[in-house]
Amino acid sequence: AVVSLPSRRLMGRHVIVTSGPTHEPIDPVRYIANRSSGAQGAAIAAALRDLGARVSFITGPAEVPAPEGVDVIAVETAREMRDAVERALPADAAVMAAAVADWHVANARAGKIKKDGSGQMPGLQFAENPDILAWISQLHQGRPPLVVGFAAETDNVLENAAAKRLRKGCDWIVANDVSPATGIMGGHENAVTLISDAGAESWPRLSKPEVARRLADRIADELAGARE
Ligand code: CTP
Ligand code: CA
Repeated sequence: AVVSLPSRRLMGRHVIVTSGPTHEPIDPVRYIANRSSGAQGAAIAAALRDLGARVSFITGPAEVPAPEGVDVIAVETAREMRDAVERALPADAAVMAAAVADWHVANARAGKIKKDGSGQMPGLQFAENPDILAWISQLHQGRPPLVVGFAAETDNVLENAAAKRLRKGCDWIVANDVSPATGIMGGHENAVTLISDAGAESWPRLSKPEVARRLADRIADELAGARE
């Protein structure tokens, strides 16, 4: 008898997932970081794995451990993350869930910065990091057929997220409201809106693993050429 395995719909597919924060060094003992726990990215990688995908999980220094059964590529900075994404190509889909630092310290020191007695902190100069999502979305050769970004916003969430999708050139953007009143940031749940060419679809407030399963299902539909 023919047995269909609908649950392994991503068998033979390769998906890149970025996750977690990045750390941008100031000197050998200090860095600039952000509050991303890496929970949503890890859940997405696990959900894609459960559908049979080979997952390249490119993660900054996250609180949440990487899932079993994925290829873990641990990085520290945004520039290392970009290089790791490039090395992981080609892919059928890319999900950029990392909270990438927007800047790195241009004058990071090779040795520990010492107080100089002036009472002043030494000046830091910043340079913009590569925008990994925009870069992969706009690749002329080897662009993954499906590129998914995230937009964590505190104000005008849907408007900002929709504009971000067009500006960067990704196919879908997962918008979430991280204003303090929602209690989302750092929590176990997420309330997201999936924005694509087809419009905006708001999902109820769900656990992060449930958001991940729904997103992985959508990705499997899309790669299978499903039309609604
Ligand atoms: N992103 C990325 N590389 C960067 C910055 C962001 O790949 N250097 C990705 C994130 O992983 C996310 C999406 O871009 O999928 C949106 O990140 P966000 O910080 O909301 O966008 P920015 O363009 O940095 O805009 P903002 O000024 O609002 O921070
Ligand atoms: Ca940013």
